[in-house]
Amino acid sequence: MTIGTGFTVATATERALAKAYELACAFLASLPERPVSLVPSAEEMAAALDETLPETGSDPAAVLEEWVTRAERGITASPGPRFFGFVTGGVTPAALAGDWLASAIDQNAGLWASSPAAAQTELVVLRWLKALFGLPPAWSGALTSGATMANLVGLTAARQWVGRKLGFDAAADGLAGQPPVIVVSSTELHLSALKCLGTLGLGRNQVHTVAAPGGSVDIAAMAALLRAIDAPVILIGNAGEVNSGHFDDIAALADLRDAHPAGAWLHVDGAFGLFARLLPRLEHLTRGIERADSLAADAHKWLNVPYDSGFAFVRDADILREAFLAGGAYVAGSAGWDPYTHVPEMSRRFRALAAWCTLKAFGREGYRAIVERCVDNAAVFARWIEAKPGLELMNSAPLNIVCFRIVRAGLDDASADQLNRAAVGAIQRDGRAFVTGTVWNGRAAIRAAFDNWLTTLDDVAILQAAVEDIAASSR
Ligand SMILES: Cc1ncc(COP(=O)(O)O)c(C=O)c1O
Repeated sequence: MTIGTGFTVATATERALAKAYELACAFLASLPERPVSLVPSAEEMAAALDETLPETGSDPAAVLEEWVTRAERGITASPGPRFFGFVTGGVTPAALAGDWLASAIDQNAGLWASSPAAAQTELVVLRWLKALFGLPPAWSGALTSGATMANLVGLTAARQWVGRKLGFDAAADGLAGQPPVIVVSSTELHLSALKCLGTLGLGRNQVHTVAAPGGSVDIAAMAALLRAIDAPVILIGNAGEVNSGHFDDIAALADLRDAHPAGAWLHVDGAFGLFARLLPRLEHLTRGIERADSLAADAHKWLNVPYDSGFAFVRDADILREAFLAGGAYVAGSAGWDPYTHVPEMSRRFRALAAWCTLKAFGREGYRAIVERCVDNAAVFARWIEAKPGLELMNSAPLNIVCFRIVRAGLDDASADQLNRAAVGAIQRDGRAFVTGTVWNGRAAIRAAFDNWLTTLDDVAILQAAVEDIAASSR
């Protein structure tokens, strides 16, 4: 068999993979030097990439090369050591190779029958992750496409549990005509959890929130709120608030869960904060997380595996299966573990392989060292900000996120906000390092997140130089 370009399938595949390898190696080699982002305009990217659907085919290797050439200005060095935006990890060699192989062998990791190897590998990865983070071995769970979907898995199980308490089956019968499923959290609840609540029919605007001064929920206020609710609730805690990296007191939330007379389900978002568990000196940050009913975290952040990868754990395996189990004759009679009964999707990517490869390649000690390096880099940067006239540290930087701003004497609040928003854009356009903006405690802020396994103190120094130069030129 030949394909459009006259090559046999085997030759076309080998040529395409060789080209992908060549282009990938060139990109990876350029990471230390290339501008982190060229911040192209939307018009520029549309001009580079938009075209009508081709009527005829082309050589796959040439297609790849063409895409890289045309897309080049929009490819960020996000897996590189100086992308400090959002909360972004890179990719370890073992994870990258595992991910490539997962594409080549193209296993459907939804059902045991479609790939016993993928399903069993996922079970092993889930066990390893529980061991890595000191979580109860009996917890059920699944890999997801990221922390948003991990939150969805945990919150779907939570909704199912509340329904059961109130006498209905939320997954089977829906919410119409049933008593409300009440959700409580802090004002700093991550937007991904809000997206999940919207998806689940619980309502983004229906969350009962209490303040989180400094980024950590006010436990006394939460206790008072819960006292006023005579019904089962879903209680969502943050282990690592995205703007500041601050943590709720999860042990105190677990105590409140235990004390709530009508019952409560504690879901914790530990997208990146869960990794604090790897450093004994930071044990206090996540104390009590092992008492949660469900937990969401990301792998494509601090595990440094390729997008898209996250994981969810749920204490009650029956509730999780009840939430997602939908039978069908054509998938009946499985001989093993079916991941699709634990997540919203059926067919899914074999993302366990990248995680398996990198966990095997680094081991517990390797990951401890990565997390420690990132936390130390963040601390060095935070101390530098603190000591630098004209800059203000805005959080206590307990883990890997440093939130700061440029200060100028005599500026009113609005002008100071404007200056800092402009500074974020200027740092991005400068290209030496990439940071993102936010609002913290009502003021515009600049944030840098340290998750990349490659970042060194030299990279921190380059970030400092970029911040210093932009701050000096900011008016
Ligand atoms: C605390 C927290 N939860 C959830 C998410 C969403 O994760 P993802 O983008 O992997 O879905 C993030 C992303 O930054 C996060 O920081």
